[in-house]
Amino acid sequence: MSSMDIEVIKNEIDSAIQNINSALALEAFKVKYLGRKGIIAQLTGLIPTLSLDKRVTYGQQVNNLKNKLLSIIDEKQKKLNIPTLQPNGQTKAIDIDLPGVAQDLGRLHPITQVMDEICTIFVRMGFSVVEGPEIETEYNNFTGLNIPLEHPSRDVFDTFYLKLGVRSQEPGVKASQLPTPNSKLLLRSHTSPVQIRVMKSRKPPLAVVVPGRVYRPDATDASHSFMFHQVEGFMVDKDIKFSDLKGVLEILAKNIFGQDIKMRFRPHFFPFTEPSAEVDISCIICKGKGCSVCGRKGWLEILGSGMIHPNVFKNVGYDPKKYTGFAFGMGVERIAMLKYGIDDIRLFFENDLRFLKQF
Ligand code: DAH
Repeated sequence: MSSMDIEVIKNEIDSAIQNINSALALEAFKVKYLGRKGIIAQLTGLIPTLSLDKRVTYGQQVNNLKNKLLSIIDEKQKKLNIPTLQPNGQTKAIDIDLPGVAQDLGRLHPITQVMDEICTIFVRMGFSVVEGPEIETEYNNFTGLNIPLEHPSRDVFDTFYLKLGVRSQEPGVKASQLPTPNSKLLLRSHTSPVQIRVMKSRKPPLAVVVPGRVYRPDATDASHSFMFHQVEGFMVDKDIKFSDLKGVLEILAKNIFGQDIKMRFRPHFFPFTEPSAEVDISCIICKGKGCSVCGRKGWLEILGSGMIHPNVFKNVGYDPKKYTGFAFGMGVERIAMLKYGIDDIRLFFENDLRFLKQF
């Protein structure tokens, strides 16, 4: 092949490129000249057959031709607005056929979900939802609930106290709003103090549930946490009976754990209820036969309950001869652990998405 041929090819290229008006045609042009078996490859293949003195000039000519091709293809590509192919074979242009990138919307924490589920069951039965502060007075947390200062049951959750000064420094808090000196502030150790708040500010009939966070000076392990959640509930009216409590709690347990769940009320002591009972459900793992989850007992404790103590009514200014009522309180983490078969309470608070995404 002579330099003449190269000139011919150059002219051929110049006129061919004029007529190219589509990506497809440009691709065919590229293959024809620059493809693996294209014209440039053929010309290059001839180099070794030439005499040594001709090789250099000929080689340069082929190289120039190749560069010319590359630049006119590039120019054409820009003119036709064809995206450049990336080394991975993809173009920079948006491929509208590809599925979009889904946005992660997040979800409610499993504890929030279970707490909502519990409250919804009670709302359907006519209860209203009330929340109280996590910083509570010693009076509402203990004394108002018939737990006297020196009572042994107070040790269990004798809890995190605050310095009074913390509250008095808050902007907008008047001296008259500060708790009396004998009513110190603490992080509430249960949601029961909201009973006192609600009963003091409203008159019966009352049917209330109270979801919220509580704090205890407990060392953390698989079943204890210094912070956890409770749902408290209570009903006050004339003639409220223990059987009303049983009926309401049965609806709760069946809705959460299934219709075939069994319940039992075990006598217990709480200072703010009399009589008091702890409530167990038949073990959801072994159905009551006895397994490692229920400690071979066949039963799992889910909450504390009872008939509101007359002293509590006196403390809020209700006449205990006129009104009766029941109350109960449950740990949300415990319910969630039983419902989902979770064996370590710490999983709820580690914020590990591999755990949280399962709910
Ligand atoms: N406040 C109790 C606790 O945290 C739970 C409780 C038991 C609440 C009996 C009640 C009740 O309202 O009647 O351990």
